[in-house]
Amino acid sequence: MLEIKNLIYRVDDENDTKEIIDGLNLTVEDGKFVVITGPNGGGKSTLAKLIMGINKTTSGNIVFDGVDITEKSITDRAKLGISFAFQAPVHFKGIRVVDLLRLAAGKQISVAEACEYLSKVGLCAKDYVEREVNNSLSGGELKRIEIATVLARGTKLSIFDEPEAGIDLWSFQNLIKVFENMRKTVNGTIIIISHQERILNIADEIVVIENGKVKKQGPKDEVFPELLGTSSAANLACNKLGGDQ
Ligand SMILES: Nc1ncnc2c1ncn2[C@@H]1O[C@H](COP(=O)(O)OP(=O)(O)OP(=O)(O)O)[C@@H](O)[C@H]1O
Ligand SMILES: [Mg+2]
Repeated sequence: MLEIKNLIYRVDDENDTKEIIDGLNLTVEDGKFVVITGPNGGGKSTLAKLIMGINKTTSGNIVFDGVDITEKSITDRAKLGISFAFQAPVHFKGIRVVDLLRLAAGKQISVAEACEYLSKVGLCAKDYVEREVNNSLSGGELKRIEIATVLARGTKLSIFDEPEAGIDLWSFQNLIKVFENMRKTVNGTIIIISHQERILNIADEIVVIENGKVKKQGPKDEVFPELLGTSSAANLACNKLGGDQ
């Protein structure tokens, strides 16, 4: 379980100080597929970086599986089972896709195992496993390879920040399938930051972050209609208006 308690992240902005994360509380239960959404600049990416330890918390606590990780390094958090999917995989000269997957898994997985991860993200494995990870791969291919490395890592908590960014419509359809599949096959907790309706639609739970706080958290069926502007609250208000006439 991930528990975020009264989290504050303050930055000095010229003469001013600003709370980008402003007393945020959030609990994510194990095995949940959670999508975080909300307006641009609300603090979603900052929160992801605080969970992973890329940014240092000003105050408050982050507790993962009962362990307070607030002061822990990125490496220690990774060891505890938290992983973060960057927009594109890190490039090292000469590294092949299979090597990247082995690095992620932290062991010498076979080519067949590497192929399995690639198949899960919809890549025809034999065409990719020996390829070098460089700019000859398209943005969508790199993205899927990045997702495959997260699968190979097999962590307890995987965080993806806008995995759809830079993906064309065709690849996006496939990406949705990858996440749908991940939802079924991955045991760990998945947090995806996204603005995409189709990704929101496969969530167990939706969290809305605005002005550095959780504005709303709940089951998809409850929060999603509200985001689409057909909230039960609005319906209730309409019904009430109707009733008053
Ligand atoms: N180091 C910093 N110094 C000053 N402002 C910052 C810093 N880091 C983030 N911000 C500001 O904090 C706000 C939240 O940024 P963040 O990237 O977390 O938003 P977001 O919710 O991920 O937005 P988007 O949906 O556009 O990706 C933004 O206004 C951003 O400009
Ligand atoms: Mg962001």
